[in-house]
Formats: sequence, C-alpha cells, structure tokens
Amino acid sequence: MNEKPWQGRFEQPTNRQVEEYTASIHFDSRLFRYDIEGSIAHCRMLGECGIITHEEAALIIGGLGEVLREMERGDLSLDPSEEDIHMAVERRLIQKIGEVGGKLHTARSRNDQICLDMRLYIRDVIRHCRALLLAVRKGFVETASCCMGMVMPGFTHLQHAQPVLLSHHLMAYDEMFRRDDERMADCFRRADVLPLGSAALAGTTFPIDMEYTARALGFSQVTRNSIDAVSDRDYLIEFNSAAAILVMHVSRLAEELILWSTSEFAFIEISDAFCTGSSIMPQKKNPDVPELMRGKSARVFGNLMALLSLTKALPLAYNRDLQEDKEPVFDTADTVLSTLRLLSRLLPEIRFKEERMRRMAVEGFTLATELADYLVGKGLPFRKAHHVVGQIVQHCIHHGKGLEDCGLDDLRSFSKLFESDVSAFLNINAAVNRRSSPGGTASSRVEEAIARARDEIRSLERELPAR
Ligand code: ARG
Repeated sequence: MNEKPWQGRFEQPTNRQVEEYTASIHFDSRLFRYDIEGSIAHCRMLGECGIITHEEAALIIGGLGEVLREMERGDLSLDPSEEDIHMAVERRLIQKIGEVGGKLHTARSRNDQICLDMRLYIRDVIRHCRALLLAVRKGFVETASCCMGMVMPGFTHLQHAQPVLLSHHLMAYDEMFRRDDERMADCFRRADVLPLGSAALAGTTFPIDMEYTARALGFSQVTRNSIDAVSDRDYLIEFNSAAAILVMHVSRLAEELILWSTSEFAFIEISDAFCTGSSIMPQKKNPDVPELMRGKSARVFGNLMALLSLTKALPLAYNRDLQEDKEPVFDTADTVLSTLRLLSRLLPEIRFKEERMRRMAVEGFTLATELADYLVGKGLPFRKAHHVVGQIVQHCIHHGKGLEDCGLDDLRSFSKLFESDVSAFLNINAAVNRRSSPGGTASSRVEEAIARARDEIRSLERELPAR
C-alpha cells in the first residue's frame, strides 16, 4: 500500500473500503494532462518568485514531463490507494526525482488544484463544443442553400398550418445553434478565471504571483476571492445548463427527423449508413441515430439536476461532496460532443423527398390564410374574412375537395369580393413569397438569412481555432 502524503497525523492505515469509497482516481484520471499542465505552470511561478530555486523548478518540470509521457502511454494506475489524480501525479514525480518533488505542492492545496484542473478541462470542452457547433451550423446553412425552393407544410399543433420553405425550417435550427454557441461563449468567459493560489480556502502566505500563473495557462482573469474560488462550481453548472438547452434543441430536430422518416410523413430518407435494422423484421430500417440523440438529452438534463442538488445548501468553502461534480460533467461533455459530431455528419445523409413535401404543403387547406388575406385586401375586416374562409373550408370538407379546386363561382357564393385575380392567391409559391416580413419564409428573406449566417460562420471561423 502507498504511504499517504497526509499520513503524518494518522496512527492507523486507511480502511480499504474507505479508500475505495473516497477515491476518485477511476474518473479524475482523465484530467491528467490538465493536472500536469497546471503543475508545470505553478512550478515555474514558484521558481520565478524565488519560493523554490530555479534548479529545483527545472528538476520538477523535467520530472512532470516524464510523468506526462508515461501517462500518455496509458501507464496510469487506477488503484484506489492512489486516491486521486493529484496524488497519483505527485507520487510518480517523487518516485522519479526524489524528495525535491515534494516542493511542488508548496503554496497550493488539492482544493484549488482540482478547480484549476476542471477549469482547464471545461475551457477545452467548450472550445471543442463551439467548433462542432460551427460545423453543425455550416451543415444547416449549406443544406438550406441547396434546398432553396423546396416547399413543405409548416406545422402548428403538428397540424398542417401554412406552406413554408424547407430552407426556412432548417434555418430555424441554425438560429437555435447560434444561440447555443453564444451561451457556450458566455460560459467560457466565467470559466476563464485562475483559482490556483487560493490554496485550501484562505489564500497562501507565500509570495506567489497569480498573474504569472494565469498568463502561463492563458487565463484572462485571476480569482477575486479564495473562499469562492475553491467552492464555486457555477461554471460547471452553467456549462451543463447551456448543454441541456443545446441537447433539448437537438432532441426537437431528432424528433422531426424520426417523424419525417415515417411512411405517414415520408418527407425524408436517411441513408443506410446512418440507420440500423431489426433482428426480427426483415423490412425494417430504423432511425436509431436521431432516436438516440433524442434519448441522450435525458442524461444531460439529469446531470444538470445532479449538479444543482450537489451544490444546494452546501456550506462554504470546499467540501468533499464536490468530488461528485466530475462524473456528471464528464458525462455531459462526452454526450454533447459525440452528439454534435454525429449531427454534423448526419445532415448530408438525409435525402429530402421534394415532390411529397410539395404535395403535402397544400394538404389540409394550408392556403386558407391566403384567401382571408385576399379578402382583407378587398377591404373586409380580418375577423370577417376569417369567418368567410372558414365556411369555404367547411364546404370543401363536405364536398371532399381542396381550396385550389374551388372555382370563382364557388368562391363568389361565399363573398362577392372574390374576383378573377384570386387565382394568384391559391398558388403555393406565391403564398410562400408573400410572407416577406422580417424573418418570414419568403425566398428573399430566407436567402438573406442564409447570407447572414454565412457571414457569422466566417467570422467565427476566424475567432475559433481549427480543430
Ligand atoms: N478529489 C477531490 C475532488 O475532486 C480533490 C480535492 C480533494 N481535497 C481534499 N481536501 N480532500 O474534489
């Protein structure tokens, strides 16, 4: 068994079950790169400030580099006696370079160290997430551009409402993902604060230079309160909230793709490579990818609830409870990143059935509003026009025909305001293009939206480093 760094005041060795129960090495081992990167910066700072000598700093940094390479090779013990990643790295370091390795932990505590690791980690996750969101947005914008001109029924209450451009519907998702990206960028700003130097909770007596460490690790700010620094988990909760909203958006898209794949809708076909079959029904081709995207949102919501419950009513400053923040955060990050990665690849695998969508776009009297608008144009108050067209729809239902099958005589039996120019109003493309209010479905507006999104994507590409 390993001797614990904190063994000094203890007379008995740790109970094995206690060791297992309290260990976090089996999940926080994935932080090893951040832990070592943070230690290297900390050690440089200790050397610069004369808290340890430059020779000692060089020895420690060299040793940490070796530990890093070992761990990168997968040589990492997950035995509970290692306790956590901080202890595992330190123990390896001391094994390699001897007692001088014990100087690394000067002027810090595991309480501020774990916060540093998690901030470094979450910054990376957010950068990755934003790069993937960008790829997803590109996919939507390019698909919307390719599908320009395809018409589909727009829905309210999942009932046919008014015809819209498919591109307009797709660009609605681009808006959601744009806001998700803004939330991630905002969350990044608050995660981007150096906690190291807060030590256990009260700060340290050593003459440290936190600005130096912050610069070395690329943090734009240094913590303003050491008690807050070791107990704050807002940045993780915030990331998980933004992630929850993001996967909620994905679940709405997924649900639509699932519906649109049914023989009832038959708006799309997802390629074989992105579907799976049934072990019993030979004919089946199932949309498992969107189903799992929809399903996986549940765990992200659960993780958010876990983090909120974990921190609720927790007294200041550090409490060991906080160790429980890791798994939900890791799970959310893994889920969001894998979902976005696949989503960016899914779009090109979708074939839109243009004819079917166009046929369905007039089904269910979706041009009724056109007729009402026509009557309003002739001076009838909208409420009255609504009523007249409602009666025309009822007439059509009784006679089993569509609005576009009504002749002028039919229409005039409901209102003398109908004249021959009404035929232009019963046209699906005209119906779409007349909705040219800002953000409307008219081709001109959708093209405008696509151009604007392309500009945004270009400037985000400059801002976010390529992955
Ligand atoms: N494994 C701990 C965590 O994740 C690291 C900090 C432990 N600090 C302590 N004093 N036991 O929160």
